[in-house]
Amino acid sequence: MTAADTTRPPYAGTRYPRLAQVPAFTEFVSRDWADVRTRPQLPVGAAAAASAHRDRLSAALPGRVIVAAAGRAPVRNDDAHYGFRADSGFVWLTSCQVEHAVLVMWPTAGGHDAVVYLPPPFRPGDAGFFADANHGELWVGPSAGLAEWAEALGVTVEPLAALDARHGELRGAALARSAAVLAGEVGAEVSDELERTLSRLRMIKDAWEVDQLRAAVDATVAGFGAVVAEVPRAVAEGLGERWLQGTFDRHARTFGNGPGYSTIVGSGAHAPILHWVRCDGEIVPDGALLLDMGVEAGSLYTADVTRTVPASGTFSAAQRAVHDLVEKAHRAGLERIRPGVEYLDFHFAAMEVVARGLHDWGLLPVSVDEALSPGGQQHRRYLACGIGHHLGLDVHDCSAAAYEDYMGAALEPGVVMTVEPGLYFHAHDLTLPPELRGIGVRLEDDVLVTDTGSEVLSDALPIAATEVERWTRAHLAAAR
Ligand code: GLY
Ligand code: MN
Ligand code: MN
Repeated sequence: MTAADTTRPPYAGTRYPRLAQVPAFTEFVSRDWADVRTRPQLPVGAAAAASAHRDRLSAALPGRVIVAAAGRAPVRNDDAHYGFRADSGFVWLTSCQVEHAVLVMWPTAGGHDAVVYLPPPFRPGDAGFFADANHGELWVGPSAGLAEWAEALGVTVEPLAALDARHGELRGAALARSAAVLAGEVGAEVSDELERTLSRLRMIKDAWEVDQLRAAVDATVAGFGAVVAEVPRAVAEGLGERWLQGTFDRHARTFGNGPGYSTIVGSGAHAPILHWVRCDGEIVPDGALLLDMGVEAGSLYTADVTRTVPASGTFSAAQRAVHDLVEKAHRAGLERIRPGVEYLDFHFAAMEVVARGLHDWGLLPVSVDEALSPGGQQHRRYLACGIGHHLGLDVHDCSAAAYEDYMGAALEPGVVMTVEPGLYFHAHDLTLPPELRGIGVRLEDDVLVTDTGSEVLSDALPIAATEVERWTRAHLAAAR
């Protein structure tokens, strides 16, 4: 025996204890806690809006049992999970963001009765109180109980386990994709009809939802200023695109729930790369900087805005020429947004401008008309993505809608959508003259269809190159 061994405590070498199997511990940890109850932090008006949304769905699917779920965060490793973000359809119907929660709308003679089934918090006395690192109150802090949730949501709330006894009644139900796990458990299919219906109904935003989107856009506009103010530091200290991406994400997390999608910061030759979320490049001092960023508000409604700014404060001649053409296409698209106009009209209007501009620059191998025809589309080499989409709780909102309800529909008041033409001239595109290679420009605004026309919610950010330069210089000058 060595000298060191004599210092070992008598229990050294015993097996690491499982706390749940230690009666002395479980007895002690279960008692003498003050009864702390928190109240759900719902955005003002959220529960009333959700109630109205349920009424619309009830009228659309009379007599059906309807099920939607909040979902759960995927496991990353062991007890580390990816961040939880409740399913958008579920939030639209409940305003509740509790992981594992399930909504069932049980049909009645006059409509539906909504019941939200929630996992009760793990409180002192529950094994999960100390054993569940993701839901135990010892780990995650006090949370609201079922009674507090019932009061906040204005619906009946029951423990999740109470739904087990009713699984048989869910077999013929309309289950949302968010309830796919439950569908599997009860032997039912996910309902495409419900998914399509939810997407169709969610396309028309009510006044409360428009307010949420306005707040998300306003926070996003402030975030653009915060990011551009960090450009000098990112350049001087070689911090690169990630510093700017992190700046926006911090802003979004501080003033909202977080970024509504992966923040895109593309400097110089990265700007034409559509989903440049890797952001591991430097800030090119004389490059154009494409910023596609959106704050998701606490209510989970998100903005989706893009501006392309000169990192130096002044566009080069080639950058400005590309920006001017994109601006022209953008204005042509925006002009088409009003009630009664076909959804795709903005797309065709913007694409026509793009195709003509590219033809004038000698970049199209065919005529403008041939390129614009459904069987041509050569101009899309430089603009392969969509140039707009519905916006709401999801950045690409209502994406499960039927074609005739979305692409093939006329615009109605209450629609919120993006318009986002761009030109993406990749650095290695041999069809391009050298001066255009490595330039990417997108202009993206969030637009509300009103009773008489449209309102650009993000118009606090300029779109004309000269104004963009002026705005950029003002924020570069604000740098610390
Ligand atoms: N940022 C995603 C999009 O513009 O659609
Ligand atoms: Mn978009
Ligand atoms: Mn975007």
